[in-house]
Amino acid sequence: MFEPRAIAVIGASANPEKIGHQVIENIVRSGYPGEVFPINPRGGEILGLRAHKDIGEVDAEVDVAVIAIPAERVTGAVEACGAKGVKNLVVITSGFSEIGNLEAERRIVRLARAHGMRVLGPNIFGIYSAASSLDATFGPGGITPGPVAIITQSGALGIAMIGKTATESVGLSALVSVGNKADIDEADLLEYLEADDRTRAILMYIEGVKDGDRLQRTLAEVTRVKPVVVIKSGRSKRGSMAAASHTGSLAGADEVFDAVMRQSGVLRAESIQEAFSWVRYLASTPLPSGDEAVIVTNGGGIGVMATDACEKHGVVLYDDQAVLTETFSDVMPDFGSSKNPVDLTGQATADDYARALDAVLVEDRIHAAIALYCETALFDTGRFGGLLRDVYTRYRERKPIVFSLFGGERIEKVLHDLRGEGIPVFGDVYEAVSALGALYRVRRRMRRRSEPPESIDLPIEEIRRILDGARADGRRFLLAPEAARVAAHLGLDVPKSILARSLDEAVQSAGRIGYPVAMKVVSKDIVHKSDAGGVALDLENEDEVVDAYQAILRSCRAHVPDAVITGVEMVEMVLPGVETIVGAKQDPSFGPVVMFGLGGIYVEVMKDVAFRAAPVDRSTAREMIADLRSYPLLLGVRGEARRDIDAIADVVVKLSHLIDRCREIADIEVNPLVVYERGEGTRAVDLRILIKQPKGVS
Ligand code: COA
Repeated sequence: MFEPRAIAVIGASANPEKIGHQVIENIVRSGYPGEVFPINPRGGEILGLRAHKDIGEVDAEVDVAVIAIPAERVTGAVEACGAKGVKNLVVITSGFSEIGNLEAERRIVRLARAHGMRVLGPNIFGIYSAASSLDATFGPGGITPGPVAIITQSGALGIAMIGKTATESVGLSALVSVGNKADIDEADLLEYLEADDRTRAILMYIEGVKDGDRLQRTLAEVTRVKPVVVIKSGRSKRGSMAAASHTGSLAGADEVFDAVMRQSGVLRAESIQEAFSWVRYLASTPLPSGDEAVIVTNGGGIGVMATDACEKHGVVLYDDQAVLTETFSDVMPDFGSSKNPVDLTGQATADDYARALDAVLVEDRIHAAIALYCETALFDTGRFGGLLRDVYTRYRERKPIVFSLFGGERIEKVLHDLRGEGIPVFGDVYEAVSALGALYRVRRRMRRRSEPPESIDLPIEEIRRILDGARADGRRFLLAPEAARVAAHLGLDVPKSILARSLDEAVQSAGRIGYPVAMKVVSKDIVHKSDAGGVALDLENEDEVVDAYQAILRSCRAHVPDAVITGVEMVEMVLPGVETIVGAKQDPSFGPVVMFGLGGIYVEVMKDVAFRAAPVDRSTAREMIADLRSYPLLLGVRGEARRDIDAIADVVVKLSHLIDRCREIADIEVNPLVVYERGEGTRAVDLRILIKQPKGVS
């Protein structure tokens, strides 16, 4: 697909207004060295190339056929390509699944596969590949080859990106639009780009994810080798299981996407501008050999702004004052400050500035430089561009540098010229530090050891039998005693509980469990027990149990008049601790995901939760816990003891493996999981399991 020896364009036209013409024109103009075969029923010549009436007439092997004819004719063309032995199809034509015409799209893929062909598209603008100087798109042409690969789901945006790459001086190794992803998807392309030496950074624009499970695994591999930046639209969508559980309602499509991308080491950009700025920098800059950066500035204000930005973007500022003083002793004016940010003051000349930068860049204990400059009258701005170019050229292979220049027209010109040469200059200090922060994240990702997936022993067959029993009973959720059995199989520490079928049994069971006790109605017709008045807590004695029993039955019958009530579950009241929630569900895009959050207002109001694709290992589970804004509450604040974080991680790991291996579970949630002091473990107070609807049942 990326390195064809011969390419055909079906629908090539002599009419310059037609897409089929523009594709041929771009192929010819881009200097593609292979053979080009325009296919058009009229024959003749197109742009000096002989047009064949039918692909079958071509007397050479064709690796790629670009199809740009109306939708209703595409199937015929695919058949002809198959018969000819074409290897790959690039289907530009629109009018398939994106407008509901799914069947025609499937037919194309079936036909293609039957002939061993792969299909890119349909509904795409084509493909650009620097490896073979091939621009087989209907874009504006003039793509500069370079180190960045772009995969885009939106065609229009992709075409616009061609122009943008030119103005932003981003050279491309590949540009591919995936469109409807009928066959080839992002994961396939990533596998190629991972191995492609030309590609040093990858930018993806994603609208919707199809095979999220595989995309996640592929991204996790690729990001160990080269950086991947993603822009995804549709941040505001919410999951559809809103009412079913916290995990469901919090697992909005975007929250899960965001979490899974981070888990896979992908950098998610907020805007196209940010994405371009990152990939341009990442593709041309060496990784820092350590974490510590120094800011050199001639203005205190931007120095402070850069310091704030460093904190936000995880850039560590070097603070060994003895080394800083020594480093800058020869270059610092008397009134300057060698504290990081190193302030040369507005009096600094261009030469002072250059010497200070040199001092930073030769010092091995400093790993990156942030050079800030405010235009002043003392500075010869005209010379400045040359000076920065010189510094950059000498150190570009050794140490990351970002330049941020602030000033008027003359500075704008320097910015424009240097950017055109691929030098990392930014007009805004936040943008500069954000790019360096992205590089730091890439470094951390690549240094992280990849751990083989932990395999944990779970009695899946036994759990499945419990689920099957509920299904046979026509239920999509487990009753409390069934959930308690699942909890036992998972090895969760659950409160003692006994099912009481009468008032007498309730009183006796309470005595056996020991006061105080809680009571919960057990009925297949009542899912939301509290709402139906089916729960009573903290019952201290026999009288309270008797009253609660009667109240629960009365209230539940009033709430759900036809409910079949199996009995009342008598449960040990657990000791108070920090209440948390662990949940897991099948996400429509990414498959099994797991969630952790603190209970109460933290989850309800602040939506302070962490997600990951499941299954997770223990260290990922610990990271999830540490991701929470409310994490300090678990570490122990204001004299409180540290909580048993390992025990939480244990539950997260188990639920993540269960949801992965038991795909018939739609949603599972322990709420609350009460967490005690370190070493004291957790109690899974309530475990709720929802089962997937069997296919065909509405
Ligand atoms: N084999 C070869 N050539 C064929 C053919 C076939 N089976 N059937 C028709 N052609 C020729 C036509 O004769 C025509 O050539 P001509 O100009 O010499 O007459 C050429 O192919 C194009 O066909 P035409 O019917 O004129 O279609 P079109 O150019 O108006 O539209 C598409 C074709 C593919 C561009 C259009 O159907 C489409 O899908 N447009 C949207 C594309 C898009 O936006 N994609 C997504 C981008 S992100």
